[in-house]
Amino acid sequence: MGTVEDLKPIFSPKSIAVIGASRSPMKIGYEILQNILVQGYTGKVYPINPETPMIMGLKTQPSVLAVKDDIDLAIIAVPAEFVPKVMTECAKKKVKGVIVISSGFGETGEKGKLLEEEVLQIARKGGMRLIGPNTLGYKDPIDNLDAAFVFGMPRPGEIALISQSGALCIGMIYYANGEHIGLSRVISVGNKADVDDADLIDYLDNDPSTKVIAMYIEGIKDGKKFLDSARRCQKPIVAIKAGRTPAGSAAASTHTGSLSGSDAVYDSAFKQVHIQRAYDVIELFDFARALAYQPPTLSNKVGIISNGGGAGIMIADWCESIGLKVPNLAKKTVEALLPHLPSITTARNPLDVAGDARFHRYHATGSIMLSDPNVDALIMTCVHAGIARPREYVGAVIKLVEEKRNLKKPIVACWVGGPEVDEVVQELRVKNIPVYPSAMRAAKAVRSLYDEGRRLEILTKKRQPKDNSSN
Ligand code: COA
Repeated sequence: MGTVEDLKPIFSPKSIAVIGASRSPMKIGYEILQNILVQGYTGKVYPINPETPMIMGLKTQPSVLAVKDDIDLAIIAVPAEFVPKVMTECAKKKVKGVIVISSGFGETGEKGKLLEEEVLQIARKGGMRLIGPNTLGYKDPIDNLDAAFVFGMPRPGEIALISQSGALCIGMIYYANGEHIGLSRVISVGNKADVDDADLIDYLDNDPSTKVIAMYIEGIKDGKKFLDSARRCQKPIVAIKAGRTPAGSAAASTHTGSLSGSDAVYDSAFKQVHIQRAYDVIELFDFARALAYQPPTLSNKVGIISNGGGAGIMIADWCESIGLKVPNLAKKTVEALLPHLPSITTARNPLDVAGDARFHRYHATGSIMLSDPNVDALIMTCVHAGIARPREYVGAVIKLVEEKRNLKKPIVACWVGGPEVDEVVQELRVKNIPVYPSAMRAAKAVRSLYDEGRRLEILTKKRQPKDNSSN
């Protein structure tokens, strides 16, 4: 079986055993069982605990060996020293996959490394794939399965998240929820003793619910395997690689037992396989949201519309400083724009539609800009400006995105103002239209779409048969 088939029993299990399911609401084994039940998992659930006959109304078994039915997935939450014993029982029971939540392995030093190796060998000999140890588990908002120990689910969406940090993973889920960014699968990989980033990239590349793969990485053990998977992957990958500095790298080695490696090596390897690098969580989701919900840009030429000159100038600066172009508009475009503009403004790129712009001026100028052959992406900005009509601006952006989908030119929104504007632009987030509260973030999101356009262009060229006409 290949990796994708191997991982199905873990990510789409028909039955789950929770080993170390606890009676105590303060314990992790209690939370895991609770989360599975709260989310309404429809398969069979077997709490395993030798000390008590019932937990949460479910009959317990003293060991997986006492369960009569087959078990696809075992989630293990007993102290590290007992993990080899329960894993051996899982292997005997022919459990198909295991998630080891327990800490106390490679991240703790030499003794822990030996224990991790022992657990890995039990999994290998037993034909079980293993996620972890030292993991939070996973959350699947598409198929409604919460196989993790922290309460709360992501919004369903099309961005998959792989995280080497469990706590950060939860933080990222809540950040995404607040931004109305939906996720398809959220997987905490922990120490990656067996299942690693490469396996998950392969799995998610085959997942119809995932459009973009977002990753938080501290270290990669098998560089070649990782690069091969990333190179094969049809979907865009955005990754944070943490542990870039000596201080960060030292912290990563005690956190997940990772060797961070040279940052320059990672940087060049990511470039080779077109992984987009993000430098913090906000950037990770800025890029992922644009990639999931707007088309890639065919060229680096960006049109800019704002109702405040300063905002337009700053976006132009950001675009040009990160390799995008702010081209002159075609003569025809300038002529078409003029009737829609007040006399105080000039028909040019970046275009200032003035502070009093209402729905029609935003919509008409946006539509004309998108028809310009020199413009392949559009950033539309609203600054609070006192007399501005942010709600009408939002309406114009939504209408343009819906009307102009077939042009395959991305539209990204940007705003500058306080909570009043933020509240209004929420409507854009709900409709999955990328919207950013700064010129820099909007420009970088377009750059991400441009990089994706280039990745696809290179992939298409590689797939085209060689021209044999000269033979
Ligand atoms: N099979 C099944 N259940 C067993 C068992 C066995 N062989 N041995 C013990 N249990 C039961 C215990 O009786 C207990 O249930 P109870 O509370 O009803 O008595 C339950 O399993 C848990 O065992 P306990 O010894 O109380 O462990 P714990 O809950 O204090 O800690 C871990 C277990 C795994 C949570 C802990 O060792 C750990 O690693 N914590 C960190 C996890 C973490 O942070 N992971 C990384 C996240 S990113």
